[in-house]
Amino acid sequence: MAGPLQTSAIGTGPVRPEGADKVRGRARYAYEHPQVDPLFLFPLQATIARGRALNLDTSAAEAMDGVVHVLTPADAPPLADTTDGELAILRDDRIGFRGQYLGAVLADTPEQARHAADLVDITYDADPHDAAFRADHPAARLPEDPDSAEYRLGDADTALAGADVVIDAVYTTPLEHNNPMEPHTTVARWDDDELTLWLSTQGAHPARDMIAPILGLGPEQIRIISPHVGGGFGSKGMPHADLMLTALAARAVPGRPVKYAVSRQQMFALTGYRAPTSQHVRLGADRQGRLSALGFDAVSMSSRTKEFPELAIKPVRIMYAAEHRRLTQKVVPLDTPVPSWMRAPGEAAGMVGLEIAMDELATATGVDPIEVRIRNEPEQHPDTGLPFNRRRLVDCLRAGADRFGWAERDPAPRSHRENGWLIGTGVASATYPAMRQPGSVARIRRTDHGYRVDIGAADIGTGSWTVLAQVAADALGIPYEQVDLRIGDTDLPNATVAGGSTGLASWGAAILRAAEEFRAEHGTDPAPGAEARAEAGANPAEEEVAMHSFGAHFARVRINEWTGEIRLDRMLGVFSAGRIVNPRTARSQFIGGMTMGVGMALHEKGELDPRTGHVVNHDLAEYHVPANADIPEIEVSWLDEEDPLAGPLGARGIGEIGIVGAAASVVNAAHHATGVRVRDLPAFGDAFLRS
Ligand code: MOS
Repeated sequence: MAGPLQTSAIGTGPVRPEGADKVRGRARYAYEHPQVDPLFLFPLQATIARGRALNLDTSAAEAMDGVVHVLTPADAPPLADTTDGELAILRDDRIGFRGQYLGAVLADTPEQARHAADLVDITYDADPHDAAFRADHPAARLPEDPDSAEYRLGDADTALAGADVVIDAVYTTPLEHNNPMEPHTTVARWDDDELTLWLSTQGAHPARDMIAPILGLGPEQIRIISPHVGGGFGSKGMPHADLMLTALAARAVPGRPVKYAVSRQQMFALTGYRAPTSQHVRLGADRQGRLSALGFDAVSMSSRTKEFPELAIKPVRIMYAAEHRRLTQKVVPLDTPVPSWMRAPGEAAGMVGLEIAMDELATATGVDPIEVRIRNEPEQHPDTGLPFNRRRLVDCLRAGADRFGWAERDPAPRSHRENGWLIGTGVASATYPAMRQPGSVARIRRTDHGYRVDIGAADIGTGSWTVLAQVAADALGIPYEQVDLRIGDTDLPNATVAGGSTGLASWGAAILRAAEEFRAEHGTDPAPGAEARAEAGANPAEEEVAMHSFGAHFARVRINEWTGEIRLDRMLGVFSAGRIVNPRTARSQFIGGMTMGVGMALHEKGELDPRTGHVVNHDLAEYHVPANADIPEIEVSWLDEEDPLAGPLGARGIGEIGIVGAAASVVNAAHHATGVRVRDLPAFGDAFLRS
């Protein structure tokens, strides 16, 4: 295709092609695919955090009506690769965290399976465990991959000692749990040595490629079908043990497919979570708020079963100029469930400490919080020296300030009171890298009525069904309605994971290349049956420029003087994210991210009881995610731009940046309202009660 992309579908907001089917209940999620004679799985889970399961007495369960099989480590099929501590389940009697799978009951109905699982009598030999995270834990160490864990430039300690103004504080973020509406779900059916999985996943091909070697299968022996997915936030980006458990259990009952939907309570220990972090932030600045030194020492909780560092230092590398820098990241592996991806892993956590600290710097110097950020804009990537693609943080801050009415703000804390409520406003920056993953393939075929476009991409509610059809329509120069898109199946060409906000850039590039290839091979008037395919590689520009999106969050909160109750009144996000392919689905992604940020700020906290290793508030009654009553109208806008360096679409990803910095803007507003500085999230009402 010569010349720039003609965009007639891109930039519009057509309704989702699968929307009507979803509303009518016809769009099938994994659990809903009909099966002949299915069995239902209920897991056996460890109730101690460390030790051994000496004996599983399954006799009462096996004697129960409807129970077909009880899977235990004693009869679990062998695994070809046991290096992944999370996925290599049922290998022996060892227990690494409370909630770990020890087996499963298969029965004719879900109720029978659940009841029978309760009848399995497990004898434990408990060892002392450690599930108490603290930053100064003696087990704290660099992550297994230390490359991303330490950055030093100049001499931060000396610069801090000589700075006019120093902010030195510790900020913490708690366990946070992904709670997609659709739980993690697997339906597994074996036909001899071929495995078919109906799976709730963010990536059918990546999931297949990860489990095939563990099961000792070639990728061609596994088919994963996942056309509709009810949310993921990262928790369905990598397969978790529930998939392995279902596949292994189904192996034991030839001819009968097995269904397992992880319960809401089980999700809190088994499907990943955002690990808690402690962030020791030190800012050294002159009296005008210009940073000379930046120290950021982060520690995150991990699991001895499998390591996952919550890399809070990631965004801190790129946000602000400071000549002397020392950033470190450590992990504390404990006898706890395995943490994993949750929307903007690294960035969402790290921008809590950094962006509250920047607000503290504004307060300490008397410089406006927007101005203090503008004064610390780096000209290039602070530690690699690479130029930024087009860094428009300042444009986002200024556009947001105008729209929010920032100029009318009285900077003094506790300066605005209405009917017993203290009112304040706050700001924070947002950022997220713009990445493209190599290896996605698209196939295009002329049909009698239009064009069939095949790619194994995932739509986890984000709108991939819609935006990929828009991209294909413009790439082929045809009306949007003529695109017959198919996604979510390993029988379709390979696609990379819906993660790291890379989906649109990676899959869209493959579709654009395939359209080019199609035109080259078949011209502009192809006969039905004409077909072409192409693969998209990496984006070479990522080697030469620091490729990031930016944004700015503004929040207004009110806090009851007598009860400490905190309510969010207003929130605005302004983003620079390249070309926006679909304003309707994009707005919804930004709003969703910001809403999760409000959850981080005010509501969400997993209570891991160190005595038992159990997340005790493991349901949506006790672990509160924002509900409609918590969220006022959220305003979103974006800069009108295209980013040619980000790829042929000119678009950067938008799935994650909405959460980044959002929490800090809310608690910064709370400080402006009350004078109380929140450094430990979430901020419940008691944070604002003064004795
Ligand atoms: Mo997202 S946490 O990269 O799926």
